[in-house]
Amino acid sequence: MGRRQAQPQRALPPVRGVAMVAAMSGTGKGPGQNAGKRLIVGLSGASGIVYGVRVLEALRGTGVETHLVMTKSAEVTLAYEMTAKVADIRALADVVHPVHDIGAAISSGSFRTEGMIIAPCSVRTMSEIAAGTTASLMTRAADVVLKERRRLVLLVRETPLHTGHLRTMTRLSEMGAIVAPPVPAFYQRPETVDDIVNQTVGRALDLFGFDLGLVKRWGEPAAAGGVGKPARKSGDA
Ligand SMILES: Cc1cc2nc3c(=O)[nH]c(=O)nc-3n(C[C@H](O)[C@H](O)[C@H](O)COP(=O)(O)O)c2cc1C
Repeated sequence: MGRRQAQPQRALPPVRGVAMVAAMSGTGKGPGQNAGKRLIVGLSGASGIVYGVRVLEALRGTGVETHLVMTKSAEVTLAYEMTAKVADIRALADVVHPVHDIGAAISSGSFRTEGMIIAPCSVRTMSEIAAGTTASLMTRAADVVLKERRRLVLLVRETPLHTGHLRTMTRLSEMGAIVAPPVPAFYQRPETVDDIVNQTVGRALDLFGFDLGLVKRWGEPAAAGGVGKPARKSGDA
């Protein structure tokens, strides 16, 4: 396990959400409110590694202590999907736990956290959590979160889904996990991939009570970062 020593060299492109978080200091949503809170962030080998990376980016400077665990397959998808290197992703977290370190702090329920988000969550990781096999730190940490009745949010990414996938998701939901596939919301009129990623990540972090200003909220004025209901054209039914 390695605690981040210094501000890392940022190799990732600037992210709108991060700037927004920084701009929020002094609004009551900054580090003070989240002091002492910890979130486990799991990155597994499904497509969409950017979701997990965005979670880590968004939580920087908010006071939430992030504990990263990343599978070997996540390192593979990272190489396919982003220019950032594994070291760049690790540098975004406060604490990095090797996936084979089953003695890490997050493998025990006595280590207090707000819960765990796995983004993206592969079918393999999802299935292992549902079966309770806990062969790696990723699935052990998730199992601990469930047994302690803390929040487990899984951004499961696969399509199409067969009945076995759907049954596994039902089982996880019955066990207390929240299955939250990264499905875009088009009512907020995204213009970039970044908009889509931020909305999904923001809604997932909402589930932990972290409002980082990433979400364009329905029914709130545009000036407040919301998305109002568009006026209907004359002639609409
Ligand atoms: C480029 C790429 C994309 C992948 N996308 C998915 C995906 O969307 N969903 C999924 O369940 N597996 C996907 N996989 C396969 C997983 O990486 C593979 O099943 C792996 O064993 C998952 O291991 P993990 O759960 O330990 O990360 C993908 C693999 C690669 C190389």
